[in-house]
Amino acid sequence: MERLAGKPVSDSAFEHRERVFPHHLNPGNILYGGWIPFWADSVAALCAERHCGIPIVTAVMDGIHLLCPVTKNDVLLFKASVNRVWDSSCEVGVKIYAENPYTRHLRHVATGYFVMVSMALGPDGKRISMPKVIPETEDEKRRFKQAAVRNRRRKAERKKMLKENQTA
Ligand SMILES: CC(C)(COP(=O)(O)OP(=O)(O)OC[C@H]1O[C@@H](n2cnc3c(N)ncnc32)[C@H](O)[C@@H]1OP(=O)(O)O)[C@@H](O)C(=O)NCCC(=O)NCCS
Repeated sequence: MERLAGKPVSDSAFEHRERVFPHHLNPGNILYGGWIPFWADSVAALCAERHCGIPIVTAVMDGIHLLCPVTKNDVLLFKASVNRVWDSSCEVGVKIYAENPYTRHLRHVATGYFVMVSMALGPDGKRISMPKVIPETEDEKRRFKQAAVRNRRRKAERKKMLKENQTA
């Protein structure tokens, strides 16, 4: 399979902010939780596309635990980076904070892991391999290692689901 040249994590990592407006709130007057995976998936997809330079799709949204409520006037801060690339897939980690816009105090709201899959096909009709990602900092190296553990679990879960679908 065709392979594009490797790039450091910092080349595609980026931050994005969303202001919480009244129409984002639920009847309990806190952020409706569905907005978080919606925004995080969009940020993760942009991060993967910045890294790969090719179109991708989301295959998995993994591990979003909502750790604290988000209220009106909060700003959501999304920090995204490519944790690891396999062949035609990669994991993007998105760490999500609620930020007080006046004091800039941050609360960790959630962390999500998104598996993105290459949609570009090479001349052989197979998915183009993504460029490898080069972890440089200690944090990037830790995330690179942990991504392998998560991906083994995800692949086992997928295999089990596909098998169950065949027998359903
Ligand atoms: C995700 C999707 C493209 C996978 O298609 P497929 O032909 O079954 O893919 P393959 O089995 O060849 O897998 C392709 C890669 O994705 C990885 N992958 C796919 N599903 C995965 C999962 N659940 N967990 C981990 N990796 C997964 C495979 O391991 C493989 O990685 P590699 O090439 O790096 O080794 C397909 O299931 C799909 O289109 N799903 C819907 C996606 C969608 O609609 N998203 C919302 C719009 S963005």
